[in-house]
Amino acid sequence: MAQPFYSTIPKSTSIFTSKPSPSCPFLFVLILCILGLYTLYNHHPHSSRTDTQTSRNALRFQDHFLSSASNYTISSYLRALTLHPHLAGTEPSRRTALYVQTQFKELRLQTHVRDYNVLLSYPVYASLSAHFIDGTFKNLPLAEQGGTQNDDVVRPYHAYSPSGTAYAKAVFVNYGKEEDYRALAAQGVDVSGCVAVARRGEVSRNAVVEIAAARGVAAVLLYTEGDRFRNGVERGTVMRGLGDPLTPGWAGVDDGERLGLEDNEVVKKFPRIPSMPISADTADTIFRLLEGARVPSEWRDTLKSKVARVGPGPTMLNFTYQGEKKMETIHNVFAVIRGSEEPDRFVLLGNHRDAWTYGAVDPNSGTAALLDIARRYALLMRLGWNPRRTIILCSWDAEEFGMIGSTEWVEENLVNLGSKAVAYLNVDCAVQGPGLFAGATPQLDDLLVEVTKKVKDPDSADTTVYEKWTTTNKGISVGVPSIDLYYGRDFPVYHTAFDSYNWMANYGDPLFQRHVAVAGIWGLLTLHLADDPIIPLNYRAYIVELQEYTKVLSNLLEGSVSLHPIITSIQQLVAVAKEAEQEAKKLRDQEIVGELLVLKKRTLNDRLMSAERGFLDAEGLQGRQWFKHLVYGPSSDFESKLVFFPGIIDAISRSKRMSQTEGQAAIQHEIWRVARAIQRAAYALKGELT
Ligand SMILES: *[C@@H]1O[C@H](CO)[C@@H](O)[C@H](O)[C@H]1NC(C)=O
Ligand SMILES: *[C@@H]1O[C@H](CO)[C@@H](O)[C@H](O)[C@H]1NC(C)=O
Repeated sequence: MAQPFYSTIPKSTSIFTSKPSPSCPFLFVLILCILGLYTLYNHHPHSSRTDTQTSRNALRFQDHFLSSASNYTISSYLRALTLHPHLAGTEPSRRTALYVQTQFKELRLQTHVRDYNVLLSYPVYASLSAHFIDGTFKNLPLAEQGGTQNDDVVRPYHAYSPSGTAYAKAVFVNYGKEEDYRALAAQGVDVSGCVAVARRGEVSRNAVVEIAAARGVAAVLLYTEGDRFRNGVERGTVMRGLGDPLTPGWAGVDDGERLGLEDNEVVKKFPRIPSMPISADTADTIFRLLEGARVPSEWRDTLKSKVARVGPGPTMLNFTYQGEKKMETIHNVFAVIRGSEEPDRFVLLGNHRDAWTYGAVDPNSGTAALLDIARRYALLMRLGWNPRRTIILCSWDAEEFGMIGSTEWVEENLVNLGSKAVAYLNVDCAVQGPGLFAGATPQLDDLLVEVTKKVKDPDSADTTVYEKWTTTNKGISVGVPSIDLYYGRDFPVYHTAFDSYNWMANYGDPLFQRHVAVAGIWGLLTLHLADDPIIPLNYRAYIVELQEYTKVLSNLLEGSVSLHPIITSIQQLVAVAKEAEQEAKKLRDQEIVGELLVLKKRTLNDRLMSAERGFLDAEGLQGRQWFKHLVYGPSSDFESKLVFFPGIIDAISRSKRMSQTEGQAAIQHEIWRVARAIQRAAYALKGELT
């Protein structure tokens, strides 16, 4: 997975949009960053679809899909994918692309590979030592020790960190958030020129380094807290934004335009100071040497290490990192199952394939599930099934560096995807442990509920995923209608050399039944989206969410600005969504098949698909134009936990630094933008010109 955007969300990631949080942060940002997709938490209204539009034939294929699952096959796919570490841009990584394509070929699926040349980043040299006041010094380990690891595993590093050296006093900065620095300043701690040690969580890696640089810190060491795998080290990217840094907004194809490394657009994507991940053990060694001010009491409750003082010093750290940025070829692999009736409508399933190390959880549990879905679809095809719409299975490369593979492909295919993609279903770290987590843009909520009622729970007999899920977890919800799914959360081996097949077989999913459940849900969602005559998207659930967000916002703003524009546009959407629902019901009930009916269904489907595009705004969020979705997205205020209406939330935090009048005007402007977005969605769903 890619890097977390915000803490409360489990991590995920990418072709379309967002993955968050420290463990397998579900940065499930695939494409839709560009198209505006985003993953978020959301609760799931438990309504269910009552229509019986799925024909008996389609039902038979769905049953067959579910009954042909094989935990044995999934485990063998996972074993093959994780035999060697396969970091993007390396030869073993190319071999995994070949492996996936070979599987598709053997299943007789139509397959192709799309390559891009992009700027990746690798470590060359790193060292860290502590120098004590008595003149002695000690080298601190930067590599992971023990386990079954071998030399092919890339040493821990932060991709795109600049090279550099710092010989300076160490200081502990908690998570490295703005408020943490304020707490330090309140105790009279000056961090400038120091090496900051921060714990991972709540803030993206890139943000930790940027905030530190702005405070005059010389270098950052980032560790992940944990009780197990204390010498595991979490690799990750510190690039800002998504996609190949040299081709922002367009694809990194052979002979295409590329910005130079010195171009301002490129320079601003990389941090200005060096950084490096370290283990919890190494962090503890540093903490034992710190004197100075006491650790602020607010930090202590959640702190797992025994840190008494924050420094700076007196012990000095000597830290050096040298990395190299290199152009490498990356490989996205696709299998295409052409739709029989509407080949120009695409249902996309995506998962990245590249891994920091062996990638058993992140991401190849998802790749193994994708391959098992391919196997089962091939089986259905031999029994006479052909989807109504085109299904595309996507295996992305270089996600870990900043969702590069998926972003380049989306950039290249933007117009076709924008007009023809029905939905994007992403799975990254499919299995990390027990418990289902699913995030969806709200119009997919009902379908998700229906599908989980048909899939067997992997951890208890005679229970469906749905029953288990509603009693134990809250769901998460996402923004092209999209979904992200996974079992478990916060796995301790995240981005470390210990994320291996053995860890999965011993801890993550010993019977491989959780893999079976994810593949079941993922594959069945796809069957509905590809086969149901009326695409199962329901905007009622969206309205419930929008109303909820407006309520939260209203409490936050306490009447200082008017929410009336949003309330009015939601009312417009309510009326249109109701009409669309009635229209869908009428069309489903009609028995006679005729050309006119087919056309009517297709027209409604196009409106259901395009309504989501209404929420996108061409200009994107202020200062983060790659986020186009105005309803869902992370706030740029790292301390905000709110993941809706990001433009408004940003304006609220900016307003604190403005005069009252200016601040209110800025918030009101963002409110109008959201109101217009909701209105655009309503017009798209209605399908008529004003
Ligand atoms: C710090 O480490 C670098 C690289 O290992 C080394 O060349 C340099 O001499 C060290 N500096 C001090 C003051 O020990
Ligand atoms: C598959 O599941 C069955 C039943 O739960 C179990 O007995 C078997 O060991 C599993 N196979 C693998 C490869 O995990």
